[in-house]
Amino acid sequence: MEFQIKNSTIITKQKTECLVVSIDSRKNQSDFVKDIDKSTNGLVSQLIKSGDISYELGKTTLLYPNNNLKQKLLFVGCGKAKTFDSVQAKTVIKAVIKELLAKKIKNIAWDLLAFNEVNSLEIAKQLPQIISDITYRFDDFKTTKDPVPSLTKVTLLIHNKKALSALTDNLLQGQIIANAITVTKTIANMPSNICNAKYLAEQGKQLGKQHSSLKVTCLGESELAKLNMNAYLAVGRGSQNESIMTIIEYKGAKDKKAQPYVLVGKGLTFDSGGISIKPSAGMDEMKYDMCGAATVYGVMQAVAELKLPINVVGVMAGCENMPDGNSYRPGDILTTMSGTTVEVINTDAEGRLVLCDALTYVERYNPKTVIDIATLTGACIVALGHHYTGVMGNNDKLVAQLILSSNKAGDKAWALPIDSEFQEQIKSTCADIVNTGGRDGGTITAACFLSRFTEKYQWAHLDIAGTAWKSGGQKGATGRPVAMLIQYLLDQ
Ligand code: BES
Ligand code: MN
Ligand code: ZN
Repeated sequence: MEFQIKNSTIITKQKTECLVVSIDSRKNQSDFVKDIDKSTNGLVSQLIKSGDISYELGKTTLLYPNNNLKQKLLFVGCGKAKTFDSVQAKTVIKAVIKELLAKKIKNIAWDLLAFNEVNSLEIAKQLPQIISDITYRFDDFKTTKDPVPSLTKVTLLIHNKKALSALTDNLLQGQIIANAITVTKTIANMPSNICNAKYLAEQGKQLGKQHSSLKVTCLGESELAKLNMNAYLAVGRGSQNESIMTIIEYKGAKDKKAQPYVLVGKGLTFDSGGISIKPSAGMDEMKYDMCGAATVYGVMQAVAELKLPINVVGVMAGCENMPDGNSYRPGDILTTMSGTTVEVINTDAEGRLVLCDALTYVERYNPKTVIDIATLTGACIVALGHHYTGVMGNNDKLVAQLILSSNKAGDKAWALPIDSEFQEQIKSTCADIVNTGGRDGGTITAACFLSRFTEKYQWAHLDIAGTAWKSGGQKGATGRPVAMLIQYLLDQ
Protein backbone atom coordinates (compact mmCIF):
# COMPACT_ATOMS: atom_id res chain seq x y z
CA MET A 1 0.00 0.00 0.00
CA GLU A 2 1.38 3.33 -1.08
CA PHE A 3 0.85 6.77 0.43
CA GLN A 4 1.48 10.01 -1.36
CA ILE A 5 1.00 13.69 -0.61
CA LYS A 6 0.43 15.95 -3.54
CA ASN A 7 0.24 19.69 -3.78
CA SER A 8 -2.45 20.19 -6.38
CA THR A 9 -5.42 22.38 -7.17
CA ILE A 10 -6.93 20.51 -10.07
CA ILE A 11 -8.89 18.08 -8.04
CA THR A 12 -11.17 16.65 -10.64
CA LYS A 13 -8.22 15.81 -12.91
CA GLN A 14 -6.68 13.37 -10.41
CA LYS A 15 -6.10 9.96 -11.95
CA THR A 16 -7.70 7.92 -9.23
CA GLU A 17 -10.60 5.55 -8.77
CA CYS A 18 -12.34 7.65 -6.15
CA LEU A 19 -12.22 11.17 -4.76
CA VAL A 20 -12.97 11.50 -1.08
CA VAL A 21 -14.83 14.72 -0.39
CA SER A 22 -14.99 16.15 3.11
CA ILE A 23 -18.18 18.04 3.94
CA ASP A 24 -18.42 20.19 7.04
CA SER A 25 -20.95 22.53 8.58
CA ARG A 26 -19.72 25.68 6.83
CA LYS A 27 -22.12 27.29 4.36
CA ASN A 28 -19.19 27.86 2.05
CA GLN A 29 -17.76 24.46 1.27
CA SER A 30 -14.13 24.14 0.15
CA ASP A 31 -12.98 24.96 -3.38
CA PHE A 32 -12.76 21.25 -3.87
CA VAL A 33 -16.51 20.82 -3.37
CA LYS A 34 -17.20 23.80 -5.63
CA ASP A 35 -14.97 22.30 -8.30
CA ILE A 36 -16.81 19.01 -8.14
CA ASP A 37 -20.17 20.76 -8.10
CA LYS A 38 -19.27 22.40 -11.38
CA SER A 39 -18.21 19.09 -12.91
CA THR A 40 -21.48 17.49 -11.89
CA ASN A 41 -23.63 20.39 -13.13
CA GLY A 42 -24.73 21.37 -9.64
CA LEU A 43 -25.69 17.87 -8.53
CA VAL A 44 -23.60 18.11 -5.38
CA SER A 45 -25.06 21.37 -4.14
CA GLN A 46 -28.52 19.95 -4.85
CA LEU A 47 -27.78 16.86 -2.78
CA ILE A 48 -26.39 19.00 0.02
CA LYS A 49 -29.52 21.14 -0.06
CA SER A 50 -31.80 18.12 0.02
CA GLY A 51 -29.82 16.65 2.90
CA ASP A 52 -28.80 13.50 1.02
CA ILE A 53 -25.21 14.57 1.53
CA SER A 54 -24.71 16.01 4.99
CA TYR A 55 -22.01 17.06 7.37
CA GLU A 56 -23.25 14.59 10.00
CA LEU A 57 -20.05 13.19 11.51
CA GLY A 58 -18.94 10.02 9.75
CA LYS A 59 -21.89 9.86 7.35
CA THR A 60 -20.73 8.61 3.96
CA THR A 61 -22.43 8.88 0.57
CA LEU A 62 -20.98 7.24 -2.53
CA LEU A 63 -21.74 8.59 -6.01
CA TYR A 64 -20.73 6.74 -9.15
CA PRO A 65 -19.02 8.48 -12.08
CA ASN A 66 -21.12 10.44 -14.56
CA ASN A 67 -20.32 11.87 -17.95
CA ASN A 68 -18.29 14.79 -16.70
CA LEU A 69 -16.43 13.11 -13.91
CA LYS A 70 -14.44 9.91 -14.32
CA GLN A 71 -13.99 9.13 -10.63
CA LYS A 72 -16.36 7.84 -8.01
CA LEU A 73 -17.12 10.37 -5.30
CA LEU A 74 -17.23 9.47 -1.63
CA PHE A 75 -18.65 12.26 0.52
CA VAL A 76 -17.95 12.13 4.21
CA GLY A 77 -19.53 14.26 6.92
CA CYS A 78 -16.96 15.96 9.14
CA GLY A 79 -19.28 17.60 11.63
CA LYS A 80 -18.73 21.13 12.82
CA ALA A 81 -15.50 22.65 11.56
CA LYS A 82 -14.98 24.60 14.78
CA THR A 83 -15.08 21.58 17.07
CA PHE A 84 -13.25 19.12 14.82
CA ASP A 85 -10.52 17.35 16.77
CA SER A 86 -8.45 14.16 16.86
CA VAL A 87 -11.34 12.03 18.15
CA GLN A 88 -13.58 13.25 15.33
CA ALA A 89 -10.78 12.70 12.84
CA LYS A 90 -10.70 9.06 13.91
CA THR A 91 -14.46 8.70 13.35
CA VAL A 92 -14.23 10.27 9.90
CA ILE A 93 -11.25 8.16 8.77
CA LYS A 94 -12.84 4.94 10.06
CA ALA A 95 -16.08 5.68 8.20
CA VAL A 96 -14.21 6.42 4.97
CA ILE A 97 -11.95 3.36 5.11
CA LYS A 98 -14.80 0.99 6.01
CA GLU A 99 -16.90 2.25 3.10
CA LEU A 100 -13.98 2.04 0.66
CA LEU A 101 -13.16 -1.51 1.69
CA ALA A 102 -16.81 -2.57 1.54
CA LYS A 103 -17.04 -1.21 -2.01
CA LYS A 104 -13.62 -2.71 -2.90
CA ILE A 105 -12.26 0.69 -3.91
CA LYS A 106 -8.45 0.52 -3.95
CA ASN A 107 -7.10 3.82 -5.16
CA ILE A 108 -8.24 7.15 -3.70
CA ALA A 109 -7.35 10.80 -3.51
CA TRP A 110 -8.50 12.70 -0.43
CA ASP A 111 -8.50 16.45 -0.35
CA LEU A 112 -7.44 17.90 2.98
CA LEU A 113 -8.49 21.45 2.15
CA ALA A 114 -11.55 21.25 4.38
CA PHE A 115 -9.30 20.86 7.41
CA ASN A 116 -7.09 23.35 9.15
CA GLU A 117 -3.39 22.59 9.50
CA VAL A 118 -3.59 20.86 12.89
CA ASN A 119 -6.41 18.62 11.78
CA SER A 120 -4.85 17.67 8.46
CA LEU A 121 -1.66 16.71 10.32
CA GLU A 122 -3.81 14.58 12.62
CA ILE A 123 -5.42 12.87 9.64
CA ALA A 124 -2.04 12.15 8.05
CA LYS A 125 -0.84 10.57 11.29
CA GLN A 126 -3.94 8.52 12.01
CA LEU A 127 -4.79 7.33 8.52
CA PRO A 128 -2.09 4.62 8.26
CA GLN A 129 -2.87 3.45 11.78
CA ILE A 130 -6.58 3.10 11.12
CA ILE A 131 -6.09 1.35 7.78
CA SER A 132 -3.74 -1.21 9.28
CA ASP A 133 -6.02 -1.69 12.29
CA ILE A 134 -9.06 -2.39 10.12
CA THR A 135 -7.18 -4.67 7.71
CA TYR A 136 -5.21 -6.56 10.37
CA ARG A 137 -5.70 -10.34 10.42
CA PHE A 138 -3.94 -12.92 12.51
CA ASP A 139 -4.19 -15.84 10.10
CA ASP A 140 -0.73 -17.41 10.40
CA PHE A 141 -2.34 -20.63 11.59
CA LYS A 142 -5.36 -20.75 9.28
CA THR A 143 -4.97 -23.35 6.56
CA THR A 144 -7.35 -21.41 4.34
CA LYS A 145 -6.96 -17.68 4.63
CA ASP A 146 -9.82 -15.31 3.91
CA PRO A 147 -8.82 -12.65 1.42
CA VAL A 148 -7.95 -9.43 3.22
CA PRO A 149 -9.39 -6.34 1.57
CA SER A 150 -6.99 -3.46 1.30
CA LEU A 151 -6.25 -0.22 -0.47
CA THR A 152 -3.34 0.06 -2.89
CA LYS A 153 -2.86 3.80 -3.07
CA VAL A 154 -3.90 6.79 -1.00
CA THR A 155 -3.08 10.28 -2.21
CA LEU A 156 -3.60 13.20 0.12
CA LEU A 157 -4.19 16.45 -1.72
CA ILE A 158 -3.19 19.79 -0.31
CA HIS A 159 -3.15 23.31 -1.71
CA ASN A 160 -0.25 24.62 0.26
CA LYS A 161 3.35 23.79 -0.52
CA LYS A 162 4.50 24.93 2.90
CA ALA A 163 2.50 22.20 4.62
CA LEU A 164 4.08 19.48 2.53
CA SER A 165 7.06 18.63 4.72
CA ALA A 166 5.15 18.55 8.03
CA LEU A 167 2.45 16.41 6.45
CA THR A 168 5.01 14.03 4.99
CA ASP A 169 6.64 13.69 8.43
CA ASN A 170 3.32 12.94 10.06
CA LEU A 171 2.37 10.41 7.43
CA LEU A 172 5.68 8.61 7.88
CA GLN A 173 5.32 8.73 11.64
CA GLY A 174 1.82 7.31 11.31
CA GLN A 175 3.12 4.45 9.17
CA ILE A 176 5.89 3.64 11.67
CA ILE A 177 3.42 3.65 14.56
CA ALA A 178 1.01 1.49 12.54
CA ASN A 179 3.76 -1.06 11.87
CA ALA A 180 4.79 -1.07 15.53
CA ILE A 181 1.20 -1.75 16.60
CA THR A 182 0.86 -4.50 13.99
CA VAL A 183 4.03 -6.30 15.06
CA THR A 184 3.02 -6.04 18.73
CA LYS A 185 -0.36 -7.57 17.92
CA THR A 186 1.19 -10.45 16.01
CA ILE A 187 3.71 -11.33 18.71
CA ALA A 188 0.99 -11.04 21.35
CA ASN A 189 -1.41 -13.24 19.37
CA MET A 190 1.12 -16.07 19.04
CA PRO A 191 0.07 -19.09 21.10
CA SER A 192 2.14 -20.13 24.11
CA ASN A 193 3.31 -23.37 22.49
CA ILE A 194 5.24 -21.18 20.06
CA CYS A 195 5.72 -17.93 21.89
CA ASN A 196 7.80 -18.69 24.98
CA ALA A 197 10.59 -16.63 26.53
CA LYS A 198 13.05 -18.06 23.99
CA TYR A 199 10.77 -16.96 21.16
CA LEU A 200 10.68 -13.43 22.58
CA ALA A 201 14.48 -13.51 22.81
CA GLU A 202 14.78 -14.65 19.20
CA GLN A 203 12.39 -11.94 18.03
CA GLY A 204 14.48 -9.41 19.93
CA LYS A 205 17.70 -10.67 18.36
CA GLN A 206 16.18 -10.48 14.90
CA LEU A 207 15.09 -6.91 15.53
CA GLY A 208 18.67 -6.17 16.55
CA LYS A 209 19.90 -7.59 13.25
CA GLN A 210 17.51 -5.34 11.31
CA HIS A 211 18.66 -2.16 13.07
CA SER A 212 22.32 -1.44 13.71
CA SER A 213 21.19 1.14 16.30
CA LEU A 214 19.83 -1.64 18.53
CA LYS A 215 21.91 -3.85 20.81
CA VAL A 216 20.17 -6.96 22.10
CA THR A 217 21.25 -9.04 25.09
CA CYS A 218 19.54 -12.12 26.52
CA LEU A 219 19.93 -13.32 30.09
CA GLY A 220 18.99 -16.96 30.69
CA GLU A 221 18.35 -18.72 33.98
CA SER A 222 22.02 -19.14 34.93
CA GLU A 223 22.66 -15.42 34.39
CA LEU A 224 19.49 -14.46 36.27
CA ALA A 225 20.64 -16.71 39.13
CA LYS A 226 24.04 -14.99 39.27
CA LEU A 227 22.20 -11.69 39.60
CA ASN A 228 20.09 -13.07 42.49
CA MET A 229 16.87 -12.55 40.57
CA ASN A 230 15.21 -15.16 42.75
CA ALA A 231 11.65 -13.89 42.56
CA TYR A 232 11.75 -13.87 38.73
CA LEU A 233 13.30 -17.36 38.70
CA ALA A 234 10.79 -18.73 41.23
CA VAL A 235 7.89 -17.92 38.91
CA GLY A 236 9.43 -19.83 36.00
CA ARG A 237 10.54 -22.82 38.04
CA GLY A 238 7.48 -24.96 37.26
CA SER A 239 7.87 -24.50 33.52
CA GLN A 240 9.82 -26.57 31.01
CA ASN A 241 10.55 -23.34 29.14
CA GLU A 242 13.57 -21.38 30.31
CA SER A 243 13.01 -17.92 31.76
CA ILE A 244 14.86 -15.38 29.62
CA MET A 245 15.09 -11.63 30.04
CA THR A 246 15.74 -9.86 26.74
CA ILE A 247 17.22 -6.37 26.77
CA ILE A 248 17.08 -4.09 23.74
CA GLU A 249 19.26 -0.98 23.96
CA TYR A 250 18.93 2.01 21.66
CA LYS A 251 21.35 4.92 21.72
CA GLY A 252 20.05 7.81 19.66
CA ALA A 253 21.15 10.72 21.85
CA LYS A 254 24.23 12.72 20.85
CA ASP A 255 25.55 11.98 24.31
CA LYS A 256 25.79 8.19 24.37
CA LYS A 257 25.89 8.40 28.17
CA ALA A 258 22.68 10.44 28.42
CA GLN A 259 20.22 8.89 30.88
CA PRO A 260 17.96 6.46 29.03
CA TYR A 261 14.20 6.06 29.16
CA VAL A 262 13.62 2.50 30.29
CA LEU A 263 10.62 0.31 29.44
CA VAL A 264 10.05 -2.98 31.25
CA GLY A 265 7.40 -5.33 29.85
CA LYS A 266 5.79 -8.25 31.69
CA GLY A 267 6.38 -11.23 29.43
CA LEU A 268 4.42 -14.11 30.96
CA THR A 269 4.08 -16.22 27.82
CA PHE A 270 1.49 -18.25 29.73
CA ASP A 271 0.00 -17.67 33.16
CA SER A 272 -1.81 -20.76 34.44
CA GLY A 273 -1.72 -19.29 37.93
CA GLY A 274 0.79 -21.97 38.96
CA ILE A 275 -0.06 -23.93 42.14
CA SER A 276 -2.76 -21.32 42.85
CA ILE A 277 -4.17 -22.48 39.54
CA LYS A 278 -6.73 -20.38 37.69
CA PRO A 279 -10.23 -21.65 36.83
CA SER A 280 -10.25 -23.19 33.34
CA ALA A 281 -12.83 -20.81 31.81
CA GLY A 282 -10.96 -18.20 29.84
CA MET A 283 -7.55 -19.56 30.74
CA ASP A 284 -6.65 -19.61 27.03
CA GLU A 285 -6.48 -15.82 27.23
CA MET A 286 -3.48 -16.05 29.55
CA LYS A 287 -1.35 -16.47 26.43
CA TYR A 288 -1.75 -12.69 26.28
CA ASP A 289 0.01 -12.24 29.61
CA MET A 290 3.09 -11.21 27.65
CA CYS A 291 1.44 -8.17 26.04
CA GLY A 292 3.69 -5.85 28.08
CA ALA A 293 6.76 -7.47 26.51
CA ALA A 294 5.19 -7.38 23.05
CA THR A 295 4.53 -3.66 23.59
CA VAL A 296 8.20 -3.11 24.44
CA TYR A 297 9.17 -4.89 21.22
CA GLY A 298 6.87 -2.71 19.08
CA VAL A 299 7.97 0.51 20.75
CA MET A 300 11.67 -0.33 20.32
CA GLN A 301 11.11 -1.07 16.64
CA ALA A 302 9.43 2.33 16.25
CA VAL A 303 12.15 4.12 18.25
CA ALA A 304 14.78 2.71 15.89
CA GLU A 305 12.75 3.53 12.76
CA LEU A 306 11.97 7.05 13.96
CA LYS A 307 15.66 7.51 14.85
CA LEU A 308 14.64 9.34 18.03
CA PRO A 309 17.38 11.55 19.50
CA ILE A 310 17.23 9.90 22.94
CA ASN A 311 18.53 6.77 24.61
CA VAL A 312 16.00 4.02 25.32
CA VAL A 313 16.28 0.61 26.96
CA GLY A 314 13.53 -1.97 26.47
CA VAL A 315 13.29 -5.07 28.66
CA MET A 316 11.12 -8.07 27.83
CA ALA A 317 10.80 -10.14 31.00
CA GLY A 318 10.00 -13.55 29.49
CA CYS A 319 8.75 -16.33 31.76
CA GLU A 320 6.01 -18.98 32.12
CA ASN A 321 3.91 -19.71 35.23
CA MET A 322 3.03 -23.42 35.45
CA PRO A 323 2.06 -25.93 38.15
CA ASP A 324 4.66 -28.66 38.62
CA GLY A 325 6.49 -30.60 41.30
CA ASN A 326 9.21 -28.00 41.01
CA SER A 327 6.89 -24.98 41.14
CA TYR A 328 7.14 -22.29 43.77
CA ARG A 329 4.38 -22.52 46.34
CA PRO A 330 2.08 -20.34 48.42
CA GLY A 331 3.90 -19.77 51.69
CA ASP A 332 7.36 -19.70 50.12
CA ILE A 333 9.56 -16.77 51.12
CA LEU A 334 11.66 -15.36 48.29
CA THR A 335 14.67 -13.08 48.57
CA THR A 336 14.48 -10.67 45.67
CA MET A 337 17.45 -9.19 43.85
CA SER A 338 17.08 -6.02 45.93
CA GLY A 339 17.27 -8.01 49.17
CA THR A 340 13.63 -7.33 50.09
CA THR A 341 11.94 -10.59 51.11
CA VAL A 342 8.50 -11.59 49.83
CA GLU A 343 6.05 -14.05 51.30
CA VAL A 344 4.14 -15.71 48.48
CA ILE A 345 0.44 -15.79 49.32
CA ASN A 346 -0.76 -16.61 45.83
CA THR A 347 1.38 -17.96 42.99
CA ASP A 348 -1.03 -16.32 40.55
CA ALA A 349 0.27 -12.91 41.61
CA GLU A 350 3.40 -13.75 39.61
CA GLY A 351 3.73 -10.69 37.39
CA ARG A 352 4.90 -8.46 40.22
CA LEU A 353 7.50 -11.07 41.22
CA VAL A 354 9.00 -11.12 37.74
CA LEU A 355 8.81 -7.34 37.45
CA CYS A 356 10.31 -6.54 40.86
CA ASP A 357 13.61 -8.14 39.91
CA ALA A 358 13.58 -6.67 36.40
CA LEU A 359 12.92 -3.25 37.95
CA THR A 360 15.86 -3.69 40.32
CA TYR A 361 18.04 -4.82 37.43
CA VAL A 362 17.43 -1.63 35.41
CA GLU A 363 18.82 0.58 38.20
CA ARG A 364 22.19 -0.01 36.52
CA TYR A 365 21.18 2.17 33.58
CA ASN A 366 20.81 5.25 35.78
CA PRO A 367 17.45 5.80 34.07
CA LYS A 368 15.79 9.13 33.39
CA THR A 369 12.43 7.40 33.84
CA VAL A 370 11.30 3.79 34.07
CA ILE A 371 7.90 2.69 32.80
CA ASP A 372 6.69 -0.84 33.29
CA ILE A 373 3.91 -2.24 31.16
CA ALA A 374 2.00 -5.22 32.48
CA THR A 375 -1.21 -7.22 32.25
CA LEU A 376 -0.96 -7.20 36.01
CA THR A 377 -4.38 -7.39 37.63
CA GLY A 378 -7.90 -8.55 36.84
CA ALA A 379 -8.90 -5.82 39.27
CA CYS A 380 -7.85 -3.20 36.71
CA ILE A 381 -10.59 -4.48 34.39
CA VAL A 382 -13.08 -4.07 37.24
CA ALA A 383 -11.85 -0.52 37.87
CA LEU A 384 -11.42 0.85 34.34
CA GLY A 385 -13.06 -1.66 32.01
CA HIS A 386 -11.53 -2.25 28.63
CA HIS A 387 -11.20 1.39 27.67
CA TYR A 388 -8.55 2.86 29.91
CA THR A 389 -5.06 1.69 30.77
CA GLY A 390 -4.34 2.24 34.48
CA VAL A 391 -1.44 4.55 35.29
CA MET A 392 0.31 4.71 38.66
CA GLY A 393 3.76 5.84 39.74
CA ASN A 394 6.02 7.57 42.22
CA ASN A 395 6.21 10.86 40.35
CA ASP A 396 3.12 12.96 39.62
CA LYS A 397 4.76 14.78 36.73
CA LEU A 398 5.61 11.56 34.94
CA VAL A 399 2.09 10.22 35.46
CA ALA A 400 0.62 13.48 34.12
CA GLN A 401 2.93 13.34 31.09
CA LEU A 402 1.84 9.80 30.30
CA ILE A 403 -1.84 10.74 30.51
CA LEU A 404 -1.16 13.66 28.18
CA SER A 405 0.62 11.37 25.69
CA SER A 406 -2.25 8.91 25.90
CA ASN A 407 -4.77 11.64 25.06
CA LYS A 408 -2.64 12.87 22.17
CA ALA A 409 -2.34 9.36 20.77
CA GLY A 410 -6.00 8.49 21.29
CA ASP A 411 -4.82 5.55 23.42
CA LYS A 412 -6.68 6.28 26.64
CA ALA A 413 -5.20 6.00 30.12
CA TRP A 414 -6.37 7.00 33.60
CA ALA A 415 -4.42 7.66 36.77
CA LEU A 416 -5.17 5.72 39.96
CA PRO A 417 -3.94 6.90 43.37
CA ILE A 418 -1.19 5.03 45.24
CA ASP A 419 -0.80 6.74 48.57
CA SER A 420 0.83 5.18 51.59
CA GLU A 421 -2.49 4.02 53.08
CA PHE A 422 -2.57 1.16 50.59
CA GLN A 423 0.91 -0.02 51.62
CA GLU A 424 -0.66 -1.43 54.83
CA GLN A 425 -2.28 -4.17 52.76
CA ILE A 426 1.01 -5.77 51.72
CA LYS A 427 2.51 -6.19 55.20
CA SER A 428 3.68 -9.68 56.03
CA THR A 429 4.04 -11.37 59.42
CA CYS A 430 7.11 -13.36 58.41
CA ALA A 431 8.77 -11.49 55.51
CA ASP A 432 9.10 -7.84 54.43
CA ILE A 433 6.01 -7.91 52.24
CA VAL A 434 3.41 -10.31 50.80
CA ASN A 435 2.75 -10.68 47.08
CA THR A 436 -1.01 -9.98 47.24
CA GLY A 437 -2.88 -7.25 49.04
CA GLY A 438 -6.33 -8.86 48.89
CA ARG A 439 -9.29 -8.02 46.70
CA ASP A 440 -9.77 -4.39 47.65
CA GLY A 441 -7.90 -1.97 45.44
CA GLY A 442 -6.07 -4.89 43.83
CA THR A 443 -4.60 -2.81 41.02
CA ILE A 444 -3.23 -0.26 43.45
CA THR A 445 -1.77 -2.73 45.93
CA ALA A 446 -0.01 -4.47 43.03
CA ALA A 447 1.53 -1.11 42.12
CA CYS A 448 2.42 -0.59 45.81
CA PHE A 449 4.32 -3.85 45.66
CA LEU A 450 6.28 -2.62 42.63
CA SER A 451 6.87 0.77 44.26
CA ARG A 452 9.07 -0.99 46.85
CA PHE A 453 11.53 -1.78 44.06
CA THR A 454 11.54 1.54 42.21
CA GLU A 455 12.62 3.99 44.87
CA LYS A 456 15.86 4.90 43.11
CA TYR A 457 14.31 6.51 40.02
CA GLN A 458 11.21 8.14 38.55
CA TRP A 459 8.82 5.34 37.79
CA ALA A 460 5.38 4.74 36.32
CA HIS A 461 3.40 1.55 35.96
CA LEU A 462 0.87 0.86 33.21
CA ASP A 463 -1.69 -1.85 34.00
CA ILE A 464 -2.94 -3.01 30.60
CA ALA A 465 -4.98 -6.03 31.76
CA GLY A 466 -8.15 -4.48 30.32
CA THR A 467 -6.76 -2.85 27.20
CA ALA A 468 -4.14 -5.18 25.69
CA TRP A 469 -6.55 -7.66 24.14
CA LYS A 470 -10.18 -8.31 23.30
CA SER A 471 -12.16 -11.40 24.30
CA GLY A 472 -14.98 -13.37 22.73
CA GLY A 473 -15.83 -13.10 19.05
CA GLN A 474 -13.27 -10.37 18.61
CA LYS A 475 -10.54 -12.22 20.50
CA GLY A 476 -7.17 -10.76 19.67
CA ALA A 477 -4.43 -8.41 20.80
CA THR A 478 -5.07 -4.67 20.40
CA GLY A 479 -1.50 -3.38 20.25
CA ARG A 480 -2.15 -1.05 23.15
CA PRO A 481 -0.41 0.95 24.68
CA VAL A 482 2.18 1.15 21.87
CA ALA A 483 0.82 4.41 20.45
CA MET A 484 0.77 6.11 23.84
CA LEU A 485 4.35 5.13 24.66
CA ILE A 486 5.71 6.19 21.27
CA GLN A 487 3.98 9.53 21.79
CA TYR A 488 5.59 9.83 25.22
CA LEU A 489 9.05 9.19 23.75
CA LEU A 490 8.40 11.53 20.80
CA ASP A 491 7.63 14.28 23.29
CA GLN A 492 10.95 13.95 25.16
N1 BES B 1 -2.15 -12.02 34.46
C1 BES B 1 -3.01 -11.90 35.58
C2 BES B 1 -3.89 -10.67 35.51
C3 BES B 1 -5.05 -10.75 34.57
C4 BES B 1 -6.15 -11.52 34.89
C5 BES B 1 -5.06 -10.00 33.43
C6 BES B 1 -7.22 -11.57 34.02
C7 BES B 1 -6.14 -10.04 32.58
C8 BES B 1 -7.21 -10.83 32.87
C9 BES B 1 -2.18 -11.81 36.86
O1 BES B 1 -1.01 -12.52 36.86
C10 BES B 1 -3.02 -12.35 37.95
O2 BES B 1 -3.34 -13.50 37.91
N2 BES B 1 -3.39 -11.50 38.88
C11 BES B 1 -4.22 -11.91 39.96
C12 BES B 1 -3.69 -11.27 41.21
C13 BES B 1 -4.33 -11.80 42.46
C14 BES B 1 -3.96 -13.25 42.68
C15 BES B 1 -3.88 -10.96 43.60
C16 BES B 1 -5.63 -11.42 39.65
O3 BES B 1 -5.81 -10.33 39.12
O4 BES B 1 -6.56 -12.16 39.94
MN1 MN C 1 -1.32 -14.52 37.45
ZN1 ZN D 1 -0.14 -12.88 35.03
